[in-house]
Amino acid sequence: MCGIVGIVSSKEFPVRGELLARLKKLEYRGYDSVGFATSEGLVMRGVGELSKFIVRVPAELEAKAAISHTRWATHGGVTEANAHPHSDCEGKLFIVHNGIIENYEELRKGLEKLGHCFETETDSEVIAHLLEERLKRGGMKSALMSLIREAKGTFAVLALRKGEERIYAAKRDSPLALGIAKGGFILGSDIYAFSDATDKAVFFDDDEIAVVDAKGYEFFDAAGKPVRKKVTRFKWARQEEAGHGHAHYMIKEIHEQPLAAERLIRSLETEQAKKVGKLVGMMRRAKRVVLVAAGTSYFAALLGVYFLNRQNVMAHTLIASEFENYVYVDKSTLVIAVSQSGETMDVVSALKFAKKRGAKIAAIVNVPHSTVQRMSEVSLEMMAGQEVCVAATKTFTNQVIAMLFLASKFGFHANFESLPLQIEKTIAANEGKAKALAKELKGRNDVYIIGRGISYPSAREFAHKLKEIAYVHAEGMMGGELKHGTLALVEKGTPVFSLMPAGDVDIVSNTKEVEARGGRVIRISTATDSDFSIPAENGGVFAILSVVIGQLLAYHIAKERGLPIDKPRNLAKSVTVK
Ligand code: M6R
Repeated sequence: MCGIVGIVSSKEFPVRGELLARLKKLEYRGYDSVGFATSEGLVMRGVGELSKFIVRVPAELEAKAAISHTRWATHGGVTEANAHPHSDCEGKLFIVHNGIIENYEELRKGLEKLGHCFETETDSEVIAHLLEERLKRGGMKSALMSLIREAKGTFAVLALRKGEERIYAAKRDSPLALGIAKGGFILGSDIYAFSDATDKAVFFDDDEIAVVDAKGYEFFDAAGKPVRKKVTRFKWARQEEAGHGHAHYMIKEIHEQPLAAERLIRSLETEQAKKVGKLVGMMRRAKRVVLVAAGTSYFAALLGVYFLNRQNVMAHTLIASEFENYVYVDKSTLVIAVSQSGETMDVVSALKFAKKRGAKIAAIVNVPHSTVQRMSEVSLEMMAGQEVCVAATKTFTNQVIAMLFLASKFGFHANFESLPLQIEKTIAANEGKAKALAKELKGRNDVYIIGRGISYPSAREFAHKLKEIAYVHAEGMMGGELKHGTLALVEKGTPVFSLMPAGDVDIVSNTKEVEARGGRVIRISTATDSDFSIPAENGGVFAILSVVIGQLLAYHIAKERGLPIDKPRNLAKSVTVK
């Protein structure tokens, strides 16, 4: 994973106020450690979040070219030594890397035999030494061509040589974009890195190299042939960094859901109507529709399958990382990726696999111009705006709305008009209750959430929020499956949430089975006397509103426990490694 940013400019820029301020925008990609290198050869690294590191960087430090990195550790512990940038043996070449060099051990052994000394446990360091070695035979361009030839795995790499005001870049699979700004260029893992400075970007394709200085940029393919690149103009809502009036982004984003929902519904009915029509056409023509996603997006996709199957559209879904193993796709399949970031490596890999098998590709994404969007024939935008908290909240809701909207074109009933207001009412009526319950549950480590049919994906997402934000071991499961094993874990006082949409008589029985064993049942239903009452007139709306309760509860338990809500341990918002 990780985020990388590089800047080359005709004028000196402040490292702290410019380079690191831009890197901060990519911290959602990982926050284990941070570091930068300037063209003067100054390198600084530190463990932990950028805010702790930045105070050590002199405010007056300036550079004309610099690269930086925020890390989500894969190979090698979270230590200062393993923080990027990494350098060659002589300390004259620096690299930052996002991705995984799969054959790094083999490359490292070969380079060690040639006398290279390694100082870290990372896979990335091998890039610096490989470039150093290949520079003996030619220039940086040919060294990067060697990297492309010799390295297996994924990479977005920025390299800088001491004394040169120029950045070299190469990429495969991991995302990389070049922002064309006034007086210089900004390279970043995605457009967040420069969306406040320009609306013009060039997106790297796989196995491309770029050489960028303050005057311009050149792109080359893996064989070193110049490539003409298209400049894309993008529109992206900027996120204010502070002063949003909430203690955390998570609660801000929970409260934004009515507005985000309304924005999406309006957009699907108007500016995105053509794309909706195109996608629906593709769905009608396909023999089967397969949704692919990870994490929260998978639970939204699962709801999509429920909605579509009800309307006799043959739909399936599978977690992206197992897609190749468990799903059959061919020319007659339409694969729809569901992804907030549009950069999740598991999803990208699944799409590549599906493409190879001749399937058609479409997507529902939040971040425009993301890799997934660019791989898709048609792509709906979630219109949720930037989501900063690692936990998906408003994007989940908008993903489900997008699914509902598509299903409504096949006859699934949903009242889109009243939905934003229902979300608002649900938050208003239940936040106090969630806060109170959080006090009771803050010491519990095992919680179950049961749902059937349309509520099952919501039970899974409810549990997902409790796990990632409140660090509660939570299991979201099919109500009917409880009695086949898990019920053995229910004892006196075990908290079990029951998602009970109107008319679901079987979940009533499953709930009673828990109660009979002394479980502490917490009912979420449309009944006004339930523990959490939600104004849902149909299943689709119930599925969304019940998750909103889970979001509130996870937030307040995490708050009670004093946890780092927006940046939970070990996680990152955009997971760009397998
Ligand atoms: O960007 P994506 O929607 O593809 O991300 C997928 C998951 O990594 C993501 O949903 C993850 O589970 C979040 N932390 C959920 O809150």
